[in-house]
Amino acid sequence: MSLLVRGARIVTANDDYVADVFAQQETITTIGRDLTVHADVVLEGADLLLLPGGVDPHVHLDFPFGGTKTSDSVKSGTVAAAYGGTTTVVNFAQQLAGESLQSTLERALANADGQAAVDYGYHLIVTGLNGQTLPDLNSVGADGVTSVKLFMAYPGTVMVDDGTMFQILERTGEIGTLCCVHAENGDVIEVLIRRALAAGHTAPSWHARTRPELAESEATHRAILLAEMANAPIYFVHLSCEQALAEVTVARDRGRPVFAETCPHYLFLDDSVYDEAGGFDVAKFVLTPPLRAARHQDHLWRGLRNDDISVVSTDHCPFCLTNQKSAGRGDFSKIPNGGPGVEHRLPLLYGRGVVPGHLTLRRMVDAFSSAPARLFGLFPRKGTIAVGSDADLVLFDPTARQRLSAESHHMNVDYSLYEGMEVAGVVRSVVSRGQLVVKEGRYVGAAGHGQYQRRGPSGDL
Ligand code: URP
Ligand code: ZN
Ligand code: ZN
Repeated sequence: MSLLVRGARIVTANDDYVADVFAQQETITTIGRDLTVHADVVLEGADLLLLPGGVDPHVHLDFPFGGTKTSDSVKSGTVAAAYGGTTTVVNFAQQLAGESLQSTLERALANADGQAAVDYGYHLIVTGLNGQTLPDLNSVGADGVTSVKLFMAYPGTVMVDDGTMFQILERTGEIGTLCCVHAENGDVIEVLIRRALAAGHTAPSWHARTRPELAESEATHRAILLAEMANAPIYFVHLSCEQALAEVTVARDRGRPVFAETCPHYLFLDDSVYDEAGGFDVAKFVLTPPLRAARHQDHLWRGLRNDDISVVSTDHCPFCLTNQKSAGRGDFSKIPNGGPGVEHRLPLLYGRGVVPGHLTLRRMVDAFSSAPARLFGLFPRKGTIAVGSDADLVLFDPTARQRLSAESHHMNVDYSLYEGMEVAGVVRSVVSRGQLVVKEGRYVGAAGHGQYQRRGPSGDL
């Protein structure tokens, strides 16, 4: 099996040039002008961008939350990812109470077996320490899980206390595993939620009112210092606001190995959606941290340009409005937190990020693909277009336009965060390890094509 992409404008984090790309089996073997090779599949790249397949390091597929589970499974969510030009996702395997991390990983791998349309890895969510947990971090690392996730929010379910976090950070720092953190002060938020409910404030907009920016920046500050005491690198997921970014920037300026991602919803949506006049539909935007005032967006763009924010992930965590979010009618705290997004990261970043000049095209490719591949131990197999890299490729039409809508998207969820938004840029074809998985906008892949990726140590440490 061989594949040739002819005459596309190849854009990576470092290069921007026109050439042909030839792949044999799963791997790129030649890049050059006017290649005279026979290929089983030929894609014409004229007038199109050829980008490395996206790496989305923050997706929740088949993920348990709030008594339910995300509406996208590994199977449906990875098809949606493919449609959006994302060829690798890093999903979450969540430790049950008292469970060994090895069993957590085995459960997740068994669940994904034969299901995925694109390649995938796992972060391990550590919810508690037992005698085995710290040594287990070494063994799951050897199995390709070189990142963990800790929650400083959601007390009573997944939140860990500072002592637990410190011990885990000590071990991850020692063994070169990257510790990802959801930074919000969960205890304070819990008080605010209880107080709001007691005062009769039950509408979904109160989700945002009980999760202030300071709860995020306080936790960000604390986590940075815990990581420093533990001599460990740290990565902040879904950073949403100016103050939290300021904490990251100060730490990076001090030379600390502190990294952050933000998500499209913080760049393109704001807290004006939390209007009680919207009724229960506001629950669509109950995601965590909540959307912030529009003024934060300029700070996030600047963070991305300066590399204080390395990555744009989606935090794809979909729950249907009608039969899942509806659990929180009459009590906003019972609305499962999260929103869909895995399919639209690229057109949003291009159409609403590159076109208006917030990011250069190469920096967009970095945040979409190369930086997450590097940080999460997948580079240069993933995250670039180079001889020897996996043939994970996206042919992207920068001139076509599309309207984002639940009626046309492929995520298994009954609403879009961006309903009716028009964006420039359309994914035409997607190649995953040398196989066409999307051809001219139509999925042509197969469940089980996607393979588990054993990740190495982070390339940015
Ligand atoms: O709202 C979100 N982000 N839900 C998923 C769980 C988490 O906090 O990552
Ligand atoms: Zn989170
Ligand atoms: Zn998340």
